[in-house]
Amino acid sequence: MILLKKVADLHKYLDTQRKIGMEIGFVPTMGALHQGHISLIQEARLHNSLVVCSIFVNPAQFNNPEDFSKYPSTIDKDIALLENAGCDVLFYPSVNEVYPDPNEKTHYDLGYLETIMEGKFRPGHFQGVCKVVHKLLQMVMPDNLYIGQKDYQQCLVIKRLLELNGMKDQISLHISPTLREKDGLAMSSRNARLDEKQRQTAPGIYQILNLVRKEIKPGNLESLKGKGMDLLIEKGFRPEYVEIADASTLQPLNEWNGNQKLAVLTAAFLGEIRLIDNLLLN
Ligand code: PAJ
Repeated sequence: MILLKKVADLHKYLDTQRKIGMEIGFVPTMGALHQGHISLIQEARLHNSLVVCSIFVNPAQFNNPEDFSKYPSTIDKDIALLENAGCDVLFYPSVNEVYPDPNEKTHYDLGYLETIMEGKFRPGHFQGVCKVVHKLLQMVMPDNLYIGQKDYQQCLVIKRLLELNGMKDQISLHISPTLREKDGLAMSSRNARLDEKQRQTAPGIYQILNLVRKEIKPGNLESLKGKGMDLLIEKGFRPEYVEIADASTLQPLNEWNGNQKLAVLTAAFLGEIRLIDNLLLN
């Protein structure tokens, strides 16, 4: 695996690869890699001749400074995992390299996606995601982009970004399923920050999402969402939302006609650590 830290070096290398007909698959990450990330690398490996991963903890997408400063970093282990998974290029830039002009202002018209769930509870978060993903895509110019359903709303935001910046015909977007620990907890870099007791409580999120899946029935959805919130609180979480939404648009729903495809999504704190998860319901 080649490790590159400079945009100019990345361009030079990828240009030569493209000229000899390589098809590029790209997996953007913030590091502290786990098997969920690696499943994206493996998926990219299967379908591309060149696999590029980026590790960049993007300050622009953290609305909470402590979450940013405490974001785990395990670069030596990450490199070993990526090499093992057959990644060809690791792009590991500094903040200056990604944001040479710290005053650059960007705005992406994300519409309602920015006012619901993650958009509502993490103001500015998706603008920061778009800012960095847009830059990384311009740098890598991949044929295929791999992202995880774990961050369901982010998937829709990135799809919208590709439409907004005219990249949707050049870059195919691939969404991979969520990898979980044996007890159901969705793998996440932030799980490393859970203490022993919190780690035992954490799979409760998945249990409650499954309960919603089991109990969903046509009609009004308010009481089921409320029940999800109450059960999370009982288990010791501080939930921000339990939302049931249209699976393709993520528009929250209060009524279900029994046919529409649905997803249930939640965000909940355990101590200072914020966890998110979701499930397709039907
Ligand atoms: P990060 O949280 O590091 O996640 C990188 C990619 O891995 C994302 O597409 C995410 O959805 C996927 N992923 C995370 N946990 C997963 C799991 N348990 N199973 C499958 N895939 C999983 O998401 C980001 O970074 C950033 O916002 C980024 C897109 C890199 C922009 O900075």
